[in-house]
Order: sequence, then C-alpha cells, then structure tokens
Amino acid sequence: MFFNKKKNAIVNNDLKHIAFIMDGNGRWAKSRGLPRKAGHKQGAKALENIGKICSEYGINTVTVYAFSTENWSRPKNEVDAIIDLLRSYIKDAKKRKEVRYKFIGDKSVLPKDLIVEINELEEITKNFDNVLNIAFNYGGRAEIVYACNELIKEGKTVITEEDISSHIYTSHSKDPDLIVRTAGEYRLSNFLLWQCAYSEFYFTDVYWPNFDRKELEKAIESFNNRKRRYGGLIKGEE
Ligand code: IPE
Ligand code: IPE
Ligand code: MG
Repeated sequence: MFFNKKKNAIVNNDLKHIAFIMDGNGRWAKSRGLPRKAGHKQGAKALENIGKICSEYGINTVTVYAFSTENWSRPKNEVDAIIDLLRSYIKDAKKRKEVRYKFIGDKSVLPKDLIVEINELEEITKNFDNVLNIAFNYGGRAEIVYACNELIKEGKTVITEEDISSHIYTSHSKDPDLIVRTAGEYRLSNFLLWQCAYSEFYFTDVYWPNFDRKELEKAIESFNNRKRRYGGLIKGEE
C-alpha cells in the first residue's frame, strides 16, 4: 500500500501500470490565446510531474501516448514543434536519469539524430526498475501487424496470444491496469489495442497540461473502487 502526503489516498497494490492518453494540449493553449505548441510544451512539463508522482506511489510502469501514427496529418509547423520538444525532452531526461525510458512505436521514420538520441537514452537508463514507455509514432494496429510480421520472420505458421504479447512493442511491460484519457474524449484513438483487454478506464474533462497530483489521485481513487472480475466472480459474489 502507498499513501499520499496527506496519508489519505491509498494506491492499491494492484495498480502497477498506468497509461495516459495525454490529450487536450491544443485546447489548453487555445483557451489561453496561445499557439498550440505552447500547449505541447506545458504538456511535457505535466508529464515530468506525473511521472515522478507515479513512482513516488509505487506505480512502477507508466506509458504515455505522445504522438500517434495519425498525428502526422497535423500541420507541419505543429509536427515540427512536437519533434523539437521531444529532442529537448530527451536532453533533459539524459541528465535526470531516474527511470528506464522505452520508446514504443516506429522510430525508423524519425530524424536520424533523434533516433541516435533515443537509443542512447534507452541504453543509459536500461538498469532502472521503473519504466516510462513513451508512445511516439505509435499505432495500436501497426503494433499488432509488427508483432505478426516478426513471428512470420521467425518461421511461425500458427501463433498464440502469448506469441503476440511477447512480440508487441511493450513486451517488457505487463498490460496497463488503468488507462486515463484527459480532455473529455471517450475513445482509444489507436492506443494499446492489444494490451487494454482487461484495463480499467478513467476519463476526465481536465486538459492534460492541467493534470496534476490532485487529478491523478482522483483517477487512483476511482481505480480503487473498481471490481476487476476478468470474466469470473469475486469472492463473496458467488
Ligand atoms: C494531445 O493534445 C497531444 C498530441 C496529440 C500530440 P492535442 O494536440 O490533441 O490537443 P487537442 O485535442 O487538440 O486539444
Ligand atoms: C490521441 O490524441 C493521440 C495522443 C494523445 C498523442 P488525438 O488528439 O490525436 O486523438 P483524436 O484525433 O482526438 O482521436
Ligand atoms: Mg487531441
């Protein structure tokens, strides 16, 4: 059990992996009369803060949706700003070195220098226990196709669920216990399609840049009240 600073919000032992669909950066910026890229910058700050709080609470895996395979369809100046932001985020992360960083998604189409930086960050942080999976150029369908193609390369002609689980981008992590989406949208937008089979979901209207400790605790509290049956029955319900 983990307690917050006021000793009143308990992080259930079952909550080991939270995934965030960090949505609403653009609307956060618009509501302040700022350019969209200012929203992404503030969103990166929120991520840093939430990552720290999660590890403080014993949640050892955090997965964040930073850029989808569909986000390339945004205006070039916004995409460029997000890539630049990732570049400076990696620079800072290399100094912080407090968690194992793993990029999930197709890195191959990113600028060459960025691929080098990502690989370096993953290498120098590989021995940390807590993991931060950053989904960048990530698509859930693309991920399942990738896993299947890897299995074909290995010569498999018949595959199992375990085969797919061990060949998807997140094969090093357990499935998320809780998936949080901010900014009032009620969809997955191609996120963790395979992994979400038995995840709990939490939706909030709060824009990602405003998602703070208080909002995280609301999500955790909601999770703590869920009954996870996995298709079966819970003791006492029989
Ligand atoms: C999420 O915020 C970040 C990315 C998709 C890169 P948005 O940029 O989607 O923000 P809204 O949904 O337009 O407010
Ligand atoms: C999902 O948000 C992707 C990320 C948060 C990176 P979007 O803003 O791209 O999703 P849609 O377009 O509203 O479904
Ligand atoms: Mg959005």
